[in-house]
Parts: sequence; C-alpha cells; structure tokens
Amino acid sequence: MDTIKFMIDGIEAEVTKGTTVLEAARNQGVDIPSLCYLKEINHSSSCRVCVVEVGPRLIASCTLIAEEGMKIQTNTQKVRDARRASVELLLSDHNQECLSCSRSGGCELQDVSSNLNIRKVTYTGEKSSQEKDYTSPAIVRDASKCILCGRCVGACGTMQTVGAISFAKRGFDTVISTAFGRPLAESTCVNCGQCIMACPVGALSERENIDDVWDDLADPAKYVVVQTAPAVRVALGEEFGLPVGTRVTGKMVAALRKLGFDKVFDANFGADLTIMEEGTELLSRLGSGENLPLMTSCCPGWVKFMEHNFPDRLGNLSTCKSPHEMEGSMVKSFFAKKAGIDPKNIVVVSIMPCTAKKYEGAREELSREGLQDVDWVLTTRELAAMIKEAGLDFVNLKDEAFDNPIGKGSGAAVIFGATGGVAEAALRTVFEITSGKALDTIEYTAVRGMEGIKETVIDLPTGQRIRTAVVHGLGNARKLMEAMERGDKTYDFMEVMACPGGCITGGGQPIVDAGTSERIDIKAERAKAIYTEDEAQTVRKSHNNPYIKALYEEFLGEPNGHLAHELLHTHYIKRSKV
Ligand code: FES
Repeated sequence: MDTIKFMIDGIEAEVTKGTTVLEAARNQGVDIPSLCYLKEINHSSSCRVCVVEVGPRLIASCTLIAEEGMKIQTNTQKVRDARRASVELLLSDHNQECLSCSRSGGCELQDVSSNLNIRKVTYTGEKSSQEKDYTSPAIVRDASKCILCGRCVGACGTMQTVGAISFAKRGFDTVISTAFGRPLAESTCVNCGQCIMACPVGALSERENIDDVWDDLADPAKYVVVQTAPAVRVALGEEFGLPVGTRVTGKMVAALRKLGFDKVFDANFGADLTIMEEGTELLSRLGSGENLPLMTSCCPGWVKFMEHNFPDRLGNLSTCKSPHEMEGSMVKSFFAKKAGIDPKNIVVVSIMPCTAKKYEGAREELSREGLQDVDWVLTTRELAAMIKEAGLDFVNLKDEAFDNPIGKGSGAAVIFGATGGVAEAALRTVFEITSGKALDTIEYTAVRGMEGIKETVIDLPTGQRIRTAVVHGLGNARKLMEAMERGDKTYDFMEVMACPGGCITGGGQPIVDAGTSERIDIKAERAKAIYTEDEAQTVRKSHNNPYIKALYEEFLGEPNGHLAHELLHTHYIKRSKV
C-alpha cells in the first residue's frame, strides 16, 4: 500500500495516500473539530470549522489530501481564531433555544462551541429564514436551527437518491428547500429520516407523538397495547450510556410495563406472520411466473420510493402489510375478540427504529372500518425520552418477558432488523415448506453483511431456483432497479431496506455524531447483536412459532386465504415523480 510522510504539529506522520488531513490528524489523536463533514455523505467544506494552517494559508482539513512533505499546524492562534469566528458566525444566525431543543445534549454545534470555549457571540445582525414545516407526519424541519452544512442534502440526494431537499436561493437567503418550496408532505420525501441522522443540530427531527401516547395511557377508557420492532432492542441501551450493540430486550419490556401499557407485545410475531404470508405469496408467484421478482414490502420508505420512482413496477411489491401493521390488525381483530375488548377502545402503539413508520401508520389503506391498524408510532429515541421523563432507572431494571398470545416471535423474526434478515427468514421457511424436511444449516450467510447489493441463488428441492437480491440504502436500490429495467439483471425475489444496514440504522434510532460513527462501526455492532438474539431463541423459523400456528388454526385459516387477505394485505398508490 502506498504511503506518504508529512508533518503534523512538528511530528512526522505516515498515512496511506489519499488520506485527508482531518482523518490523518484524528488517527494521530488530534481531534480537529468539524461540522459539515460527514464521511462518504458530505464533503462540501462549507463550515470552515476544521481549518488548519498550511504555510501562510488556512485550509479546510476535511477535504485537504495529505501530501509528501506537507507541514500542518492544527493549533495556532490563527487557527483557533478562525475556527471560533466561523462558529460564532453560525451561532449569530442560529435559534438558540437550546434548552428546549430535541437535540440538546446531542448537538454537534453545541459541542463544538463548548470545545472552542465560546462564551459569547460577538456578531449580531439580521436572521435568515425561520420557517418551520410541520406538514409531514414523520419529519419536522426547522430552518431557524439550520446551519446550511448540507449533510441532509448529501444523505437525501447522494446516498438515498431521493433528492427531496436541496439548496435553494443564494447568499444570505440560502435555504434548504423541497422542489418549488412545497411543504415536505407534498414532496417526494420517503420519510426514511436519514436526513435527521445526518443533521448535526436540531433542524431536522421526528414528528413527536410522545404526548399523544401519554394522553392515551392516562385515559381509563383506553386499552393501550405496545409492540416493539427487533432493531429497537439492540439500540435503545445507547440512549442510557450502554455500549453500541448491547441487547436490552428484557429491560425494554420491563420499562414499557412500568410506563403503563396494558399489554407489551413483540412485533416479531408480526414478522413471523409476514413470512407465512410473503413466503406463500413467493411460492405462488414462482408457480405462475407472474409479477416476479417479488419485492419485499416491510419497509415503508422503500414502498414510497417505488410509488414515486417506479410506479409501473408496483405489481412486483408483495401485497403483505409490514410486520407491525399485520400485528396491529391482529390486535384489533383476533386479540380483541379473544380478550373481549371492543377494538374501538384499543390503542396500538408501535415502537420502531424508523420515522417512515409514522407515515405508514397514518396511511388510509392501512385501516379497517374507520380504525387504523396502528394508532401511534414512536421512534426508539421517543421511547427513551418517555423512559427518562418517567424517571425509570433503565440500566438497573430487571428483565421481563413479552405478553402473549401474540408476544412471541422466532429467531427468524429478530433478524428482520438487519439487511438480509427478511430474505434469510423467508428462505428458512420456504425451503422447509417445499422440502418437508428440516434444514441442516439455517444461516444463509450469503445474504448477511454490509455489502450494498448481495446476490445468491437458492435451489429448492422442487427443482425451482430462487434468484435472490438483497439491497440496503435507496441509492443501491435505484441502481438495481435501473439494471433490471435495462434487462441487465433478473431476479425472483428481492429484499429492499431503505436505510443503510437495514432497520438497525433507521431514521428513528439513537443519533450517533459524525466523530463517533468514524470510530465505531455502528451497523456491524448492532447487526452482531441482532444475530446473537436470533441464536438465543429456541424457535428460529417463523413456521415453527407455536403462536403463529395457533393463530391460523383458531382464526385466520390458511396463509393467503380469504380472511388473511382481508386483514393482512394491502395495495399501493402511483405518485408523482417530482
Ligand atoms: Fe471541514 Fe466543515 S469545512 S468540517
């Protein structure tokens, strides 16, 4: 590997060719502050917070490639003054209601200001746009807190290829805007929330439903049921200082019970149900040869992306509702009947790693007889906020188990949380159902890992072959869809998750600052925890879940049968490309 040597604060450093000065310095233990830089997402050099001295010049280190013999100074008076001036200018036009900001305590601008010892803002003047957009059921935009770093634009445009937001206007009037300045709800935004994850401040946040849930919990007439997605249990602990990848399933259940929920169910039950329905759908489409490849529909960000960008391929999407919607539907039908509760009095709350689920929860197609399948969706962050508000000592809570009869999920359901998980869970079931015998090895490692696009071929005992693709991140999904449109790729089954890594790094998960995400492989750590949770289960295949079997025997009948279609399947809508 080619290396170069250069001097950083008088000390010789040897780095791989192509390394930026910012990266090289951080590797040497010099933590140069940065704000607009986000590895692989935004390299716009707009904030000037990371400047270093190179000869007589001040240069942004985040885009400066280290060269042989270069001499860099990271800590001179000139450097410190320049950094402070840049941050003070940002602060002079920044809404400083920090105490009530959702990012308080986790704001990168707050950290940088504090680290640079800024105690007052010298500059005063006119304020730029103060516009707030509350139109989306998933994401709130607040221009008064925006520092125009462009990280959200990189996440939405470059990484996700959604391009719902971009820079508009010039100079002091510059803003981040949707096309034609439309409300976010009327844009092509897919609600994935990756803009929130990229934002260093509180300019982007989820539409909070915490108070709605508190209100329902306080209402004696309401029976409030909660369900939690698999990815939540491997990330929630981070909000309470536990290391990335800590599994907190039992503590989470205990906390939810203490918050006052009447039943604490696991959305993994819904995931197992999805496999039963989607696996049957796959076998039927393989038989008829129609609407192949079957594309998974668990991810509402991906579904809306398809509705806007590939409306002519909506027939390829599985008609299955997503797992928490299936479970919500079962709560208001099967469970309501069993427990003798009027579904009108039941409130279903989903705890999700995702902001797009908020949008999904409100979709009209996902309701029956005037009742939504799911009433409120809270993100992992919102659940953490409720636990903190209630004063629970989360770390020291004793483990508790989910309620039944729809509280139990299999190991196959847990892995839905990581990219490749839905495909692996489906293949475990489809193989055994078609062969009638147990698999020797149930781990399909070919669909695991963080490669953007993974491909494998599964040979079924019936002689059928399932050409499978697993994709995560909408940029990769677009690449694959375009390759299919050109006829370069052919598949039978595709799993797509909108967020990079799958739900484990969804837009509702704990926000990790740019520096930490460079040091810790968040996706890998949370995925490892997901697979460990799978291994810890006694039932690891959806079709072996005894509660799922009982549901079909007692209530639904056959997978893809009449009642299953009525309660567990949906349809999609063609939407505008702009
Ligand atoms: Fe380097 Fe903003 S210019 S972090």
